[in-house]
Amino acid sequence: MKSYEDLEGDGGSDIVGQVGKLGEKLRSRLDKITHKVALMSGKGGVGKSSITANIASCLADRGKRVGILDADLNGPSIGHLLGVGNDVKLEMKEDGLNPGIGYQGIRIMSMDMLVKTADTPVMWTEEANATAVWVSTMESTAIRELLADTNWGELDYLLIDMPPGSDRIDNIRSLIPELAGAVEITIPSQLSQHIVTKSITKNNKMGVPIIGLIENMASYVCPHCNEEGKLFDGEDVLKLSEKKSIPYIGKIPFDTRVSQTSKMGSLFYTQFKESVTGKAITETVDNIEKFINK
Ligand SMILES: Nc1ncnc2c1ncn2[C@@H]1O[C@H](COP(=O)(O)OP(=O)(O)O)[C@@H](O)[C@H]1O
Ligand SMILES: [Mg+2]
Repeated sequence: MKSYEDLEGDGGSDIVGQVGKLGEKLRSRLDKITHKVALMSGKGGVGKSSITANIASCLADRGKRVGILDADLNGPSIGHLLGVGNDVKLEMKEDGLNPGIGYQGIRIMSMDMLVKTADTPVMWTEEANATAVWVSTMESTAIRELLADTNWGELDYLLIDMPPGSDRIDNIRSLIPELAGAVEITIPSQLSQHIVTKSITKNNKMGVPIIGLIENMASYVCPHCNEEGKLFDGEDVLKLSEKKSIPYIGKIPFDTRVSQTSKMGSLFYTQFKESVTGKAITETVDNIEKFINK
């Protein structure tokens, strides 16, 4: 029997060629996308996906061609927010998988669209004792394939809805070295600010430009008396941005309609861009575009 050492070269698998081809495919997809932006938070539940979807809505409203990659493989929600269910039929064409088309023509790809039902979890391996390293390798392979196999076409913006945790940026950065930058999202709570600080530190270490910090659910506007009040106790997020020397690019109030509108056939922004929260989203997108066009 031959052992591994007896094989000549790669034993005929052309592994180098295969990896090279995968890389070429990814590159040719990414070359058609002008700006790639990661949206991250460190902590889940702070509104990252909702803000990503509404930023996309505002960009589309400005005539931009927008795509969203849902990189939160274990908690995908972009399809749901943009009205693309997992019953959508994805067609595998010769040049890849066509993305789902959400509200306003926003192109999306999400793990949700590849599983059978909305309740199906992503199982990386049958092995209960899979190590964290293995799972993270599987995740990074899945994201690479979602990126490379999706026929995104020409896009002005690709927004990447990152999973919680500060460690995932390594993977995105290595897949997309020309990443325009990361937008960090927090709520005013101390815990969320603490976790987003880790994410900022990590990005700084990796040399990922930080476009700015968004404070979501910054306040609550009473629909009856229009009085604005605090939702969370915590130090000023503005102070955090000053301490970390990163731009404070958006203060987005809580609005109950943010979660209601997706079910009603559109995104919050398209319906309520003149509301206080809608205007805050407009201003945030102004700041993102300013950074990118700088
Ligand atoms: N500004 C906001 N006003 C009202 N509800 C919001 C706002 N931002 C997020 N939400 C709600 O908070 C919940 C968590 O948001 P989500 O976008 O799923 O967070 P994440 O992606 O960070 O886990 C959702 O129910 C969403 O509708
Ligand atoms: Mg999310």
